[in-house]
Amino acid sequence: MIHRLFRHIDAGTTSYTDETGANPVSSYTCADRLDRERRTLFRDTPLLVGFSGRVAKAGDYVVEEIDGRSILITRDREGAVHAFHNVCSHRAAPVAQGSGNARRFVCPYHAWTYGLDGTLQSIPDGRSFDGVCKSAHGLSEIPSAEKHGLIFIRPGGGDPIDVDRHLAGLERDMAAYGFDRFHHYRSLTIERQMNWKLCPETFMEGYHLQYLHRESVGPIFFSNLMAFDSFGPHTRLTLPRRRIMELRDRPEEDWRLIPETAIIYNFFPNVTMVVQAGHVEMWRSYPSGDATDRCKVQVSVFTPEAVETEKARKYYEKNIDLAIRTVDGEDFPLSEAIQSGHAARAHETLIYGRNEPALTHFHASLNGALGA
Ligand code: FES
Ligand SMILES: [Fe+2]
Repeated sequence: MIHRLFRHIDAGTTSYTDETGANPVSSYTCADRLDRERRTLFRDTPLLVGFSGRVAKAGDYVVEEIDGRSILITRDREGAVHAFHNVCSHRAAPVAQGSGNARRFVCPYHAWTYGLDGTLQSIPDGRSFDGVCKSAHGLSEIPSAEKHGLIFIRPGGGDPIDVDRHLAGLERDMAAYGFDRFHHYRSLTIERQMNWKLCPETFMEGYHLQYLHRESVGPIFFSNLMAFDSFGPHTRLTLPRRRIMELRDRPEEDWRLIPETAIIYNFFPNVTMVVQAGHVEMWRSYPSGDATDRCKVQVSVFTPEAVETEKARKYYEKNIDLAIRTVDGEDFPLSEAIQSGHAARAHETLIYGRNEPALTHFHASLNGALGA
């Protein structure tokens, strides 16, 4: 990969598609289109929801809002991950909130109690529920799978998830990183007035680095220069930092890719993972109800070591702040303005340059999945 990046640097090139691409603006504004996306992409497709470290220990749990549904993710006593609808079997109250470590979940409404594996353990005043069989009224479980330190769920139910098959070649990268040893550092939610696709798209090219990010991360990277690869519907961009040039003076056996690049994955359809030297960011974008121009972005940061000392905290805060400030302070405000531009229907189509192959690939994959 480093040789490949050097070839681009020497020639002043980047990864290209054969032809420019186009995409109708209506894919950001059409309610029918969003409806199909929600049914197909956010119900049936396995969705990456985080690293194993989000629920590291037995009893850890987290409640996630995924396209308007409250999903409870747990790790049981045996270490297995589960995902449930966070909906009580009695009268549908949510049984858990936020995240933490628990031995059981007690519904706040009438205290029906569930185990980490979703089994219904107790019903207060059980005599009033004669004939209700506890074993048949646990939490409603949805398919989940954990591999390479990644947790996937299929929110709409259905078949079990085969992670490697879903990763379509990316499993080799994922197995190599050792993400199963990473720690959850921090998560936050960002709500924005833009179509959910504008979040993954903002990470899909390096063409804008020297312009939009002139004052922030732009100077750190080569602009409009990256190596693009696709794996089934997923994509990977490898963007070189300018200091990669220093490797040329060093023996090749000392070359390391990760410190000299940002590697950006799109886990089809909605998750961007940015791998940098010190930490990994995950940006998960979901539609907000049936509004074509609203999304909820969950940002999580994972670190290779537990952040326990003040010094480590300062180091990570500095890197993470720059990353989040850049995206939330520069990319997303522009993405919201883009959404307004789409609403104005100034143009019928958007144009993707030959230097923006991930965007062309993303939309071809979306159209394929939607049968559009
Ligand atoms: S709704 Fe949960 S105990 Fe009644
Ligand atoms: Fe950007």
